[in-house]
Amino acid sequence: MSNESFYVTTPIYYVNDKPHIGHAYTTMLADMLARTHRLLGHDTWFLTGTDEHGQKVQEAAAARGVPAQQHVDEFVQRFEELWKRLEITHDDFIRTTEPRHTRVVQAILQDLYDRGEIYQDEYDGLYDVRSETFITERDLPEGCTLDNLPDHVKPIRETNYFFRMGKYQQWLIDYIQENPGFIQPDFRRNETLGFLRKPLEDLCISRPKSRLAWGIELPFDANFVTYVWFDALVNYISAVGYQSDETQFARRWPCQVHLIGKDILTTHTVYWPTMLKAMGVEMPKCIFAHGWWLSGRDKMSKSSGNVVNPLEYADRFGVDALRYFLMAEMTLGQDAAFTEDVFVKRYNSDLANDLGNLTSRVLKMVHTHSEAAVPAPSDGILQDPDAANLWKVVNAAVEGMTAQIEAMRPDLGLADVMTAVREANKYIGLRAPWKQAKEEDKQTLFDTLYMALEALRVCSALLYPVMPAKMKALRHMIGAGEGEPGPEHLRTFGVLPAGTPLIEGEGLFPRVQVKKTEPQAPAPKATKKAENVKEISEIGFEDFGKLDLRTATITAAEKVEGADKLLRLQLDVGGAPRQIVAGIAQHYAPEDVIGKTIVIVANLKPAVIRGVESQGMLLAATQGKRLTLITTAGEMDSGARVG
Ligand code: MSP
Repeated sequence: MSNESFYVTTPIYYVNDKPHIGHAYTTMLADMLARTHRLLGHDTWFLTGTDEHGQKVQEAAAARGVPAQQHVDEFVQRFEELWKRLEITHDDFIRTTEPRHTRVVQAILQDLYDRGEIYQDEYDGLYDVRSETFITERDLPEGCTLDNLPDHVKPIRETNYFFRMGKYQQWLIDYIQENPGFIQPDFRRNETLGFLRKPLEDLCISRPKSRLAWGIELPFDANFVTYVWFDALVNYISAVGYQSDETQFARRWPCQVHLIGKDILTTHTVYWPTMLKAMGVEMPKCIFAHGWWLSGRDKMSKSSGNVVNPLEYADRFGVDALRYFLMAEMTLGQDAAFTEDVFVKRYNSDLANDLGNLTSRVLKMVHTHSEAAVPAPSDGILQDPDAANLWKVVNAAVEGMTAQIEAMRPDLGLADVMTAVREANKYIGLRAPWKQAKEEDKQTLFDTLYMALEALRVCSALLYPVMPAKMKALRHMIGAGEGEPGPEHLRTFGVLPAGTPLIEGEGLFPRVQVKKTEPQAPAPKATKKAENVKEISEIGFEDFGKLDLRTATITAAEKVEGADKLLRLQLDVGGAPRQIVAGIAQHYAPEDVIGKTIVIVANLKPAVIRGVESQGMLLAATQGKRLTLITTAGEMDSGARVG
């Protein structure tokens, strides 16, 4: 990432949706990155917004009996209010119904049409009303055929406009291969490359008005509106002056990172780059797909009623605690579990115990022993080995956070800061200021307190992007001023002026009572027999039914570097690419398995094995040292259900 300019975006959210933890998470992540880059002194721009066209909006407005524009004007407020409540500091909020956006979409369409990049053709096939996409027979749900279509899929035959996306296939493959940072994490890059192994078709970019009126009219044919994705993706450039303000566009574009969820990978890594290429616009530096917040081990979904409402947590534990939890708990790219239990544990250990305790101990002692003002340190304060060591760990937190933000691992950056906080607590334990307070000469006590205050000053600056309100309060209490921290004092020692009066504040993070869980039944004692044969308890059919077993065809295989037992397999599961890591390298060479149709557990939570994501697990029979893959006895397509 460039040091001069940092432009970050979130997906623009469907305005109809009730904002939930997924929306809140991506936006908080972008906010944290933007705030950290501002803290480091970079020229930062943070864009979010709403996606306001399409079938669902048209239908929702009709159901309420209001014009579509009025509907989106009312619904957008839920997002605007949530961002205010969650302390989001976006520099701009774009709505796709704004003229500054629709004008640019139309200019792009006209230009591409004039240059033959868009053409008219007849489409004869299937249309999925739910996802507003054209699909093929292969995409039909289990048990459905052309003669037995589900309600949400309709056969259609209509004239439409198409973008010549297919002709950029080879260019895109080459670009992705030559620019490893372009799609991140690596396994998402592989997923896109897997998708590109099949012929890339042209993209239908219009919808006839007879079917859908709520969209941006095609400038060259008033009978059609623009397909929502072709409209929505353009927000990333229409908002920063593309075709309207050259100076702003040159300053912001190319964007450093488009943050997206893994659900919208193809639109961002295939549609968007080919659109930009056709327009002659530079590529964004990075498209980063984060994982999914799960409710325990399950996907959140409206139907299961397990969608986390971010406001509920913000109300109970505070906005900053929610922000901290989300940033500290997720390894970017992987899925993470959101449960109250995990939340409360992390809150109590990191915030209430480590940071909260440090603050209250230090402040109490300064109030009692230093007349509620920053004590004056002695000249050689850093010559004391304990003080020098603490300052070293604090410096490591500054370097760690800077590097980890660059590497898109905010969780590790935060862990470095928490290490420094714990080190400061340890330092206080070692120095025992309560004993020093009894000595005649108070200078050693003052040095201890000053050192702890300086550690708190730097840590609070590093945590400011994640917990802005709490850190503002903390900094105010320790005399670090009320303004936002900047880069200038992160690495300098002795910034707090002696004599600055300190403010006694409320406890920052009061401890939360852990919900009592049912006492666990004691584990059954291992019997003699169990020593060599693992006891397997019987399971009900409903447990077995939880497994999604599928056939999968191995399309590529390679050894995992540095692991002699592991093969990294690329699979095709009913047309969807997938990667798994399997411990079969001592039984099969990569070339032996390519083309085999195997059986996998498709709904196993992804795991990272030796730095490689494994999205499921294959089935194999083992006996002693022998291992055989489970394959199908007869011909069977990939993606078929097994069970
Ligand atoms: N409007 C499109 C995006 C267009 S961008 C040019 C869209 N909108 S959305 O409202 O459905 O938002 C999708 C985004 O919400 C995901 O990409 C992801 O960022 C976030 N999430 C939704 N549910 C999520 C979780 N359970 N967990 C984490 N984030 C997920 O798609």
